[in-house]
Amino acid sequence: MTATSAVMAGGGVVATQAARRRTFAIISHPDAGKTTLTEKLLLYGGAVAEAGAVHARRNRRAARSDWMDIERRRGISVTSTVLRFEHAGTVFNLLDTPGHRDFSEDTLRVLAAADCAVMLLDAAKGVEPQTLRLFEVARARGIPLITFVNKYDRPGLEPLAMLDHIERVLALTPVAATWPVGIPGDFRGVADRSTGTFHRFTRTAGGSTRAPEELLSAEQASESEGDAWTVAAEELELLDAAGGTLHAEDFTAGRSTPVFFGSAVSNFGVGLLLDALLRLAPPPQPRFSAGGVLRPVDAPFSALVFKVQANMDPRHRDRVAFLRLCSGRFERGMRAVNARTGRPFALAHAHEVFGDDRVVLDEAFPGDVVGVVNATDLRVGDTLYVDEAVVFPPIPTLAPEHFVRVRNLDATRHKQFHRGLTQLAEEGVVHLLRRDRDADPAPVLAGVGPLQFEVAVDRLRNEFGVTVALDATNWTLARRTDAPGAGVLRASRHADVLHGSDGTDLALFTSEFMLDRFVRAHPEVMLDRMLTR
Ligand code: G4P
Repeated sequence: MTATSAVMAGGGVVATQAARRRTFAIISHPDAGKTTLTEKLLLYGGAVAEAGAVHARRNRRAARSDWMDIERRRGISVTSTVLRFEHAGTVFNLLDTPGHRDFSEDTLRVLAAADCAVMLLDAAKGVEPQTLRLFEVARARGIPLITFVNKYDRPGLEPLAMLDHIERVLALTPVAATWPVGIPGDFRGVADRSTGTFHRFTRTAGGSTRAPEELLSAEQASESEGDAWTVAAEELELLDAAGGTLHAEDFTAGRSTPVFFGSAVSNFGVGLLLDALLRLAPPPQPRFSAGGVLRPVDAPFSALVFKVQANMDPRHRDRVAFLRLCSGRFERGMRAVNARTGRPFALAHAHEVFGDDRVVLDEAFPGDVVGVVNATDLRVGDTLYVDEAVVFPPIPTLAPEHFVRVRNLDATRHKQFHRGLTQLAEEGVVHLLRRDRDADPAPVLAGVGPLQFEVAVDRLRNEFGVTVALDATNWTLARRTDAPGAGVLRASRHADVLHGSDGTDLALFTSEFMLDRFVRAHPEVMLDRMLTR
């Protein structure tokens, strides 16, 4: 049977399988508890028997991979992985994102592959800078958000104040789905607004196993919790009077967010969050092509390359391309077409990736993520398809704010220097800019943060045997422009224009002031903050 006939015969199967997928990411500021919550979702989803696996895996991975040197040195997570688990008849694909601000572009790419995001807030800190940044990305993508207010076991903002804070800072309507009972620091459990019942939590040692949960009616809760319940019930009445209910269309469009309260470390509220992902998070939807045509999930196979990661396994020095399936059925060994090159691509070495453990994958459905090993021909933003041609819109990238010149210190490794830079740019590790399209002995590396350069320097040394020096520059911001704009910019002397390795022209300014001056003098020139890949 050809891939086409298999897809056609299995059309119903594909739609059914797609409907039981939930593909989501967690966005948060470092330290809000993303790793902890991830572990607890795996625990409640039945993927691990005891929490601690992700931390342990991360440590083990860090210990054996030179790529992770930076992670170990800095205590941050650079790479992102996909965690897949099956719970209550549903397949959850949790796309992990790096926490550090300098790797926001990576998160942006991951969000291009997610259908929903959990916005994780620290009860004491609310919306922090990185949450805001990632929220803006999620909003630009229009993906639904479920909010989890974590660390409620410790003193923090009162719940009403938290809702107010979310609304003010994000211009997003928060709708409480659960309500904490007990004061921060003496957290007893949550009231489920949809049923009016009280979920009473009991701590477990170290929080490594599921927290026993007792379900009580309002009357029982009132008897057992006394004042704590009365206060929560009064606050809920206030919310009801203010009309705070969740409307499906506002949630789907990313205008309002259901809010859950809990404590990931003690497992409180994690089960309810998982239920919400099951009930509220949308399954994969038909996806718009670059030409504005919707491709249904049961159309022939199509997938978007949202991430390319080299050197995940130092024993192999390999390069893994992560595909998000958008339609159809994936079967190992199938041949697809790469829309960018028009060339066939054999999906032979496909894996499911759980942390850094790989399992050979025989089939997958819309919403699933497949890691293709040694995919040297694939770049971030590529579309793969079978039969009916499609190109998905490019993935946006953030305008760089840091710029350095990179010089090769060993003239005998000229070729490796340029090959290395090209590969890093294709993977999206850094932007590569040149004054002239071809020859520029000291090209410019650009990124959202300096840690991206640190990764680039490390990888040039380890994978390409190239030692480089970085020189500071005066530029501080970049905007995408077009050919007529580039001409005006060059003549103006307010900016420099460099060519991106992806074919874009970038205008580089030394300050906001210079940018403003130019914009005032030349309002007709296209200057776009969002780049694409
Ligand atoms: P991140 O991935 O978002 O950076 O956060 P991570 O899960 O690593 O959590 C950051 C810190 O916050 C950890 O403490 C973690 O135990 C703690 N934490 C997570 N959830 C909760 C919660 O619900 N309540 C409280 N009180 N703390 C929470 P740490 O001291 O940095 O590390 P550890 O030694 O506890 O692992």
